[in-house]
Amino acid sequence: MTYTETDLIGTIEERTAEHIGALSRAQLDDIDQFHAGGTAAVDRLLPSLRLGPGMTALDVGSGLGGPARQVARSTGCSVLGVDITPSYVETAAALTRAVGPADRVEFHCTDVSGLDRSDFEAAYTIHVQMNVADKGAFFAAIAARLKPGARLAVFEVCRAGRGDPDLPLPWSIDGTDSFLATPDELRGCIEASGFETVEWADETGWALEWFHQVGARMTQGGPATLPTLLTGGVTRVLNFAGGMNTGILTVHRGSFTRR
Ligand SMILES: C[S@@+](CC[C@H](N)C(=O)[O-])C[C@H]1O[C@@H](n2cnc3c(N)ncnc32)[C@H](O)[C@@H]1O
Repeated sequence: MTYTETDLIGTIEERTAEHIGALSRAQLDDIDQFHAGGTAAVDRLLPSLRLGPGMTALDVGSGLGGPARQVARSTGCSVLGVDITPSYVETAAALTRAVGPADRVEFHCTDVSGLDRSDFEAAYTIHVQMNVADKGAFFAAIAARLKPGARLAVFEVCRAGRGDPDLPLPWSIDGTDSFLATPDELRGCIEASGFETVEWADETGWALEWFHQVGARMTQGGPATLPTLLTGGVTRVLNFAGGMNTGILTVHRGSFTRR
């Protein structure tokens, strides 16, 4: 079990000494994006999703909701986030009630296969499939909830194929819930699940540069950042960056069209 934190709102308010509704955008950006690259990574996914007002996107593994709120704010679309960790869904909903846009962003605690809809115009998943053993079923379930022609964007961690990363990692404390694929395996699995590739890019260098820029703030007790709020979070992030630095882990960004 990795995602075990409860009362994250209480932890955030204690560490920032602010009510969540009073947090600045910069403070929130440090806290509610649970992936390499923060808000800049979400910005890199946005063009391929081709979203606009009146459209609805599905965020699979929505975490604390930072990406969903950002996508809704940036494009004017609505976003439904699904996640299987109840306390993260509660935190995402509470943050959205406090900072918005609450009329266009909502969260359900469910696996994507439990979602009774097939009308989404786009979907994205950010740093989630590392926790999923049956990736074929995962991406097929996403495909089934999209309209034909809809876009899927992924920003995901892979193993390069040589060696294993040190534990703990952001997505796995003890390794029992980590199921890393190589980039070729992941892309092949997504294509076999009903998608055609539009773009497939190795973002490892970009993600490492981002870690170098924010790393000092994480380790030097600066403002509250997500790793400082999670169990063993700083070590987990350092191991993630170390895995990329030594060529064991990659971060890949993909854009796909649902057939
Ligand atoms: C590393 S966090 C990323 C959260 C979010 N995508 C972000 O980038 O801020 C991984 C998230 O995936 C969720 N998750 C893991 N397996 C899942 C599954 N099968 N379906 C939905 N969510 C899942 C976890 O509960 C956790 O919130």
